[in-house]
Amino acid sequence: MTALNTSGWVEEAWQQTVAKVNRTSRRIGAGFPHASVDGTYKLEPAYWWTAGFWPGLLWLLYRDTKDEHFKAIAEQCESQLDQVIADYYKLDHDIGFMWTLTSVAQYKLLQSEDSKRRALLAANLLCGRFNVKGNFIRAWNPWREGENNAGWAIIDCMMNLPLLYWATEVTGDPRYKHLAMEHADTVLKHFIRPDGSVYHIVRFDETTGERIEALGGQGYAPESGWSRGTAWAIYGMALSYHHTREVRYLHAAKQAAHFFISQLPEDHVPHWDFRIPPEVTPYRDSSAGACAACGLLLIADEVDALEADGYRNAGEAILHSLYTNYGAWDNEQEEGLILHGTSHYPEQKNMDVPLIYGDYYFVEGLSRLKGHTERFW
Ligand code: GLY
Repeated sequence: MTALNTSGWVEEAWQQTVAKVNRTSRRIGAGFPHASVDGTYKLEPAYWWTAGFWPGLLWLLYRDTKDEHFKAIAEQCESQLDQVIADYYKLDHDIGFMWTLTSVAQYKLLQSEDSKRRALLAANLLCGRFNVKGNFIRAWNPWREGENNAGWAIIDCMMNLPLLYWATEVTGDPRYKHLAMEHADTVLKHFIRPDGSVYHIVRFDETTGERIEALGGQGYAPESGWSRGTAWAIYGMALSYHHTREVRYLHAAKQAAHFFISQLPEDHVPHWDFRIPPEVTPYRDSSAGACAACGLLLIADEVDALEADGYRNAGEAILHSLYTNYGAWDNEQEEGLILHGTSHYPEQKNMDVPLIYGDYYFVEGLSRLKGHTERFW
């Protein structure tokens, strides 16, 4: 463990987190929370893309506290995913989010062979989504009868690549990493704009692999700056550098990070999109802040001391603001840890509410500030 030189707020925030999750876990149990509405986390089916974040958060707490209650729930969540992988039609590119924070986390902490087998099966399914003509991992499945989104790739998928890097590390088979890097290179070419902002969705011709157009997706518009998408790019590119040592990924992570930091309001927590017209509600997205903070802390770990301070300070400033200005510590009627996340503004879903991935990345960031250097990703 290498503790970073932060003031006492990190320990205080950690204690508050442990106490609150101790309480909320008695109700949530081995469920799959996504968004907290009117103070209560709505539970989703096990196949929903957010299924890994709650068990992942519990693993972060278990690693530090060794509290068996957290471990037991995290393992129950992991077992429930077995039924999903058997009936894999509902799975998509988010396999990485789901099994990295369950089975890979378990394997890194406790080396269960069952967890290793599950995570490798998930990695193989993820590889099956690779389009060899366009060199991208396909996003999603049709949302409705007749929809063709076979040529869609999305920036979020950068966070699914660590499952493939891990699979190569444990098997010695380079194919997983090859595919991950092909996808990351497609993102470098087609998603990251010169100013460091990113596209959410790029549509390719699924037969020829040619780029057709960018789509707005969860951002305001195709050319806007969806803040969580930028956070996925920061952390995802930093992780690709971490696992490959290919400096082009570090450059991209920094480019997206500089854009993100330059757009932050005074309290360091982003609006849901950085380019919206005045009539659109400028909700915050605390989850984008928490995820970007983890990416900034990783960049700080990967660069030399002269450069590191700027990234570390930016990451810590976001986490500190989330703790002091966005935390629901004294509100026993609220299950979420961090308020004011925005899941999907264009579809008007889960706006200005706690989101489980905001809570997860906040706790991961705190865990790093406390000194835990190994990441599940
Ligand atoms: N599509 C994953 C997200 O909401 O960021």
